[in-house]
Amino acid sequence: MEALPLKPLVDEPLWYKDAVIYELHVRAFADSNGDGIGDFPGLIGKLDYLQDLGVNTLWLLPFYPSPLRDDGYDIADYTSVNPSYGTLADFDRFLNEAHRRGLRVITELVINHTSDTHPWFTRARKAPPGSPERDFYVWTDDPTKFADARIIFKDFETSNWTWDPVAKAYFWHRFYSHQPDLNFDNPAVWQATFDALDFWLGLGVDGLRLDAVPYLYEREGTNCENLELTHTYLKALRRHVNERYPNRMLLAEANQQPAESASYFGDGDECHMNFHFPLMPRLFMAVGLEERYPIIDILRMTPPIPESCQWAIFLRNHDELTLEMVTDEDRDFMYRIYAQDTRARINLGIRRRLAPLLENDRAKIELLTGLLLSLPGTPVLYYGDEIGMGDNIYLGDRHGVRTPMQWSGDRNAGFSQGNPQRLYLPVIIDPTFHYEAVNVEVQQANPHSLLRWTKKLLRLRNRHHAFGRGTFEIRPADNTKILTFVRQYEQETLLVVANLSHYAQPVEIDLSPFEGLVPVEMLGETKFPVVTAKPYRLTFGGHGFYWFRLEQAESR
Ligand code: BGC
Repeated sequence: MEALPLKPLVDEPLWYKDAVIYELHVRAFADSNGDGIGDFPGLIGKLDYLQDLGVNTLWLLPFYPSPLRDDGYDIADYTSVNPSYGTLADFDRFLNEAHRRGLRVITELVINHTSDTHPWFTRARKAPPGSPERDFYVWTDDPTKFADARIIFKDFETSNWTWDPVAKAYFWHRFYSHQPDLNFDNPAVWQATFDALDFWLGLGVDGLRLDAVPYLYEREGTNCENLELTHTYLKALRRHVNERYPNRMLLAEANQQPAESASYFGDGDECHMNFHFPLMPRLFMAVGLEERYPIIDILRMTPPIPESCQWAIFLRNHDELTLEMVTDEDRDFMYRIYAQDTRARINLGIRRRLAPLLENDRAKIELLTGLLLSLPGTPVLYYGDEIGMGDNIYLGDRHGVRTPMQWSGDRNAGFSQGNPQRLYLPVIIDPTFHYEAVNVEVQQANPHSLLRWTKKLLRLRNRHHAFGRGTFEIRPADNTKILTFVRQYEQETLLVVANLSHYAQPVEIDLSPFEGLVPVEMLGETKFPVVTAKPYRLTFGGHGFYWFRLEQAESR
């Protein structure tokens, strides 16, 4: 691919409001040395692709030394690079190359737990009970303690306590039993996590995703989630960032109900950003039910957030499509519509990529992508979803959505020159999603491909600050299958109208506040009839949607 003009980063403290984030795993993206594992030099070679795609921020999944029993979320060393992916010097070069192209970089700060191979744990289990070394982790002789905390990886674990024969005590873990939780009651743990943050922000990383942040503290008689002490820690972390590192961002991973989720913004003094977990399954429900209420209801239940804060919204990521925070009824519905095959289910969720979830229905993929790029918040795209990549539900854990990026129809999908048997995971050869048909090269060459369409939509989004920064208002419309909302920022007024049904639909929308303005359909620059005081009538094909700019009539 031809190199695009370089684009230095602008000095903008609120950059994350105008961001489009692309989530990727270094190991899954491009292998430069033929060992079957993606690496930093490989990723550097793909930065032009990412710049051309139209995203402006990269979120890298954990790339630190790790036994990889939880895909790198089991960290064995916080301040270096897993040798399979390269060296710290490679990371540094990657960061500079990304910045030269105007791409910001978010990395992971996984502080709730470490790997049980981390030297802190090795030291802790051998240290005497009550010593500061032992107290890096949470121990007990009584595994009935904290009984009100749920088990998150319920397909794999039966308790949040595991017996350690070396320490002769049980240690606490909210995730896998090889991931002991750090003890935030110990000031040395605060210091160790601040040091890890200093290391990466000191290198020039723009943002940190705070993994599993609701679970930092435990207290008897609570569910050990969202405790006030956790917020106290986050406020201290944020102060530390504010005092030392301009224009950086903290992004909370807090899979909770709307009010608890929003609490991670604090009063604008905790995290700058936060994933909108409650919205995500409701987008799929709205399309499954062909009704707008799941989206409208959840947005109404979402509290207002401080001015400087921003939601991160997403459809899919590297984990299962989580259904932990929906009702049993809604979960049953989601399983029935999206995961008939029980192999597609894991824990309380669905381990599928976007295209297979939507039965490879292009209109539905476009509809949901259109909503992702226009609803309030900063969108996060998961690598491979821009080409409609498939998955492999026959692989264990969540590996089926973590297979190599498909660049071309060549060996190993163009991901690696190595022996196909050496790949860290096999490439997708399912007949519908085979890499020979679903890949970047084929889709770059086809003007009608999903990739080319996604690029077009991203270009449109990037021209309008209202998508990232604008107000959000639902407009009344008589047909409940049609979702209608307006985004406004400074002089820009954008109208988004989406048909959640797979049949053709008419709608009448109350646009009276915009009387006299002309809707211009943004993909084709087509002028629609002027808005009057009367209901505005539109018709759609199945799953159709429009993005309109509302313009003064004089400018016709
Ligand atoms: C990550 C998962 C991981 C878990 C435990 C999560 O929040 O997104 O991939 O398995 O943390 O580390």
